[in-house]
Amino acid sequence: MKRVLIATDKPFAPVALEKISTVIKQAGYQLNLLEKYQAKVDFAEAIKTADAVIVRSDIVDREILDAAQSLKIVVRAGAGYDNVDTGYAKEKGVVVMNTPGQNSNAVAELAIGLAIYGIREFFGGKSGGELRGRTLGLHGYGYVARNVHRIARAFGMNVKVFTRYSKAQATSEGIEVTNSLEELYAVSDVVSIHVPARGEHIGSVSMDVLKHLKTGAILINTARKEVVNEADLCRFMEERPDVKYLSDLEPDCSAEFKEKFTGRYYFTPKKIGAQTEEANTNAGVAAAEQIVAFFEKGDDTFRVNK
Ligand code: 3PG
Repeated sequence: MKRVLIATDKPFAPVALEKISTVIKQAGYQLNLLEKYQAKVDFAEAIKTADAVIVRSDIVDREILDAAQSLKIVVRAGAGYDNVDTGYAKEKGVVVMNTPGQNSNAVAELAIGLAIYGIREFFGGKSGGELRGRTLGLHGYGYVARNVHRIARAFGMNVKVFTRYSKAQATSEGIEVTNSLEELYAVSDVVSIHVPARGEHIGSVSMDVLKHLKTGAILINTARKEVVNEADLCRFMEERPDVKYLSDLEPDCSAEFKEKFTGRYYFTPKKIGAQTEEANTNAGVAAAEQIVAFFEKGDDTFRVNK
């Protein structure tokens, strides 16, 4: 009997867990659950006998992969798999998958929520602005950005995008693609970051890009902290007191924000972009179904470490 471990420091909503568990049990597999674990050693212990594991942002590194004795597949229930050592997993013959698009609407709604919170002066009573008629710059055009675009259109925003890989998609949807990231930052009232923490995206929001931001611009980050050069961001926030930064990810230099940039930033208390019952259900059930399809049919459609 296959053993599937769900190891989530940040638990799925109960309704999602019930549906994930149904998929796993209907396949005749055994389900083990490790939630809100106190230490990595607990994860290492739980994964020992697992054939498959479903994780969220949980770190699956060498230590965890080495602890696993019969692991065949890791599914990251979500989009970003920067928390998994995909290369080492491949070396060990372990398949790694994600569940692209499954929680993208939840993250998109948070990005729009942060944009409203920022433009309305953090609901503090000071006269703010409106999104209608303003320009939204999408940095990247994956599943989350596409949902942000759909919502922003309904708000009456003009949407522009900078993307290297999804130009045809954006153009076919009637969105203007800028020639450079700098141009996107220069023409946008609100910039929302939607690129993964991989390759050229790491540190891509640097001073060279930030310095092009319009007066009064709002920068939203629901992607990953690693895509922002945080030292540059802190320096930039100091030089440009007109700019606001709202993020689902607290930067390492958050103490500096607290000390110097009061009234110009907001960080969610915990990464909450995908924390909805719908997103947990979509991503969790997709993860469970992918595991079953992998074991039963050898289906590796969503493999990210081929
Ligand atoms: C993702 O990459 O899918 C999101 O960042 C969600 O991450 P989470 O599962 O830790 O909430």
